[in-house]
Amino acid sequence: MNEAAGDKSRLLKRCAAGAIASVVVVAIAIAGFCLLPSSPPLDARFPSAPTAEELAVLRPAYAGPPGDWPRPRLLPGAEFVEMAPLHIRQRPQGKDADLIRLGRQLFEDPRLSASGHFACQSCHNRRLGWGDGLPTSFGHGRAKGRRNAQPLFSVGYKPAFFWDGRARSLEDQALEPLADAREMANSNFSDVLARLNADNHYRQGFAAVTGEPAIALEHVTSALAAFQRTLERPTRFDRFANGDQNALSNSQIWGLHLFRTKAGCANCHNGPTLSDNRFHNLGLSYFNRKLEDLGRFGVTGAHEDAGRFLTPPLRHVSRTGPYMHNGVFPSLAGPIRLYEAGAGPVRPAHRPASRSPPGARRPRAGSIAPAWVRAARWSRRPARPCSCRPSRAGVSSADRP
Ligand code: HEC
Ligand code: HEC
Repeated sequence: MNEAAGDKSRLLKRCAAGAIASVVVVAIAIAGFCLLPSSPPLDARFPSAPTAEELAVLRPAYAGPPGDWPRPRLLPGAEFVEMAPLHIRQRPQGKDADLIRLGRQLFEDPRLSASGHFACQSCHNRRLGWGDGLPTSFGHGRAKGRRNAQPLFSVGYKPAFFWDGRARSLEDQALEPLADAREMANSNFSDVLARLNADNHYRQGFAAVTGEPAIALEHVTSALAAFQRTLERPTRFDRFANGDQNALSNSQIWGLHLFRTKAGCANCHNGPTLSDNRFHNLGLSYFNRKLEDLGRFGVTGAHEDAGRFLTPPLRHVSRTGPYMHNGVFPSLAGPIRLYEAGAGPVRPAHRPASRSPPGARRPRAGSIAPAWVRAARWSRRPARPCSCRPSRAGVSSADRP
C-alpha cells in the first residue's frame, strides 16, 4: 500500500516538475520571440518618453512623402493603404451646382420631417463637426436613438454608411432618417413629396435641374447626397503629407509615429481618410447588457460579425466628439485609454453570458487586446517594441462592406 502511495507521489512530483519545465520553456520561447529585433531601426532606438531633442530626431524621418516615412508596424491580415493627403474633388458647376444648392436647402429644412421640427441638420450640425454633440441622438417625440450621429465630413469618400455599414450609397442612406420613427418619422414618402411639391421654390428649382414637372423621391435623395459630398475640407495632416513641414509640431509628429508603429492604429486607420473601410470588434458591443449593440451582426446575421463596427474615418476628429458608435467617450482621451487598456472586455468576466445572438458562439471573456495594443502603454512607462502575434482573443476583423 505504502509503496504504491510512494510511487504515486513520486509520479505526481515528476509530472509537476515536467509541467513546470515546459511552462518555463514556452515562456522563454515567447519572450524570445517578442524580443526579436523586428522593428525598423528608428523605431527600435526611439525612447518611450522622449526629451525635446529626442523628439526632433523624428522630423527628418517624416520630411518626405508618406511612402518614405518609417514603415508602419502591421499585423498579419491588416489591409494597409499608405496614408496620403485626401484629394478633395472640385466643386461642380452648372446644373450639378444647382442640385447641391437644393440639397443644402433640403438638409436644413424641417419640413422633411413629419412633425415639421427636425431637419437633417438638427442632428448633423456644421458647428458640431456635422454631428449633434450628444452621445446618442434624439429625434421625433424626443425618442432616444441608440447610436451616435456620425460626422458627415468624409461621407463623400466612404464606400458604406452608418456604423454598421448597412447603406451602400448616400442616396440609399437618406431614405432611412426620413422614414425612421425615431428620426423624421414619415410614415410614407408621399407626404414628404406632397409638402415639397407644394412649395414653388423647390418645384421650379428641381424642374430646372431634372427637366421633370414634379419632384420625385430620387430627386430629393440625389440632392441631399450631392450636398453631403461637398462637406469635406483639407486638414493640417493633408498639408503635412503634402510637404508643408510647419503643419505639424514635433510632438504631433511623434503622435503620427506612434500611430503608425507602436500603437498599431494604422492597422485599421489608414489611407487618406484614416479608415480601412472594414469592420472590427473593439469589445464595445455591451453584449448582454442594457446598451447591447451587436453592430454588423444586425445586418448580416453572421455570428463572426457580432460586435463589429465600420472603422470610422478620423479626419477632423478633434471636432467630432462624443466618440464611438454609442458616444461613450466625451473626449479623445477616452478612445486612447480604451486602446491602452487593450480595447475593452467582450463581456465582464464576472457575468456569465446567459444568451447568445442566434447562431452565435459566445464572445470570449476578458481582454480582446492583441499584444501590440497591450504593449502600447506609450506615454506612461517604457515599453519594449514587441512583434508578438495577437492572441486568439485578438481584435476580430471582417471584410469590406
Ligand atoms: C434624429 C437625429 C438624426 C436626424 C434627424 C438625421 N440623422 Fe443622420 N444620423 C443620425 C445617427 C444617429 C446616425 C448613425 C446611425 C447608425 O449608424 O445606425 C446617422 C447617420 C447618418 C449618415 C451616415 C454617415 C456615415 O459616415 O456613415 C448620413 C450620411 C446621415 N446620417 C445623413 C442624414 C441626412 C441626409 C438626414 C436628413 C434626411 C439625417 N441624417 C437626419 C442621426 C440623425
Ligand atoms: C482593429 C482595428 C482598429 C485599430 C487597431 C484601431 N482602431 Fe480606432 N476604431 C476602430 C473601430 C472599428 C472604431 C469604431 C468602434 C465602435 O464604435 O465600436 C474605432 C474608433 C476610433 C475612434 C472614434 C472615432 C469616432 O468618430 O467616434 C478614434 C478616435 C480611434 N478609433 C482612434 C484610434 C487610435 C488612436 C488607435 C491606435 C491607438 C486606433 N484607433 C486603433 C478600429 C480600430
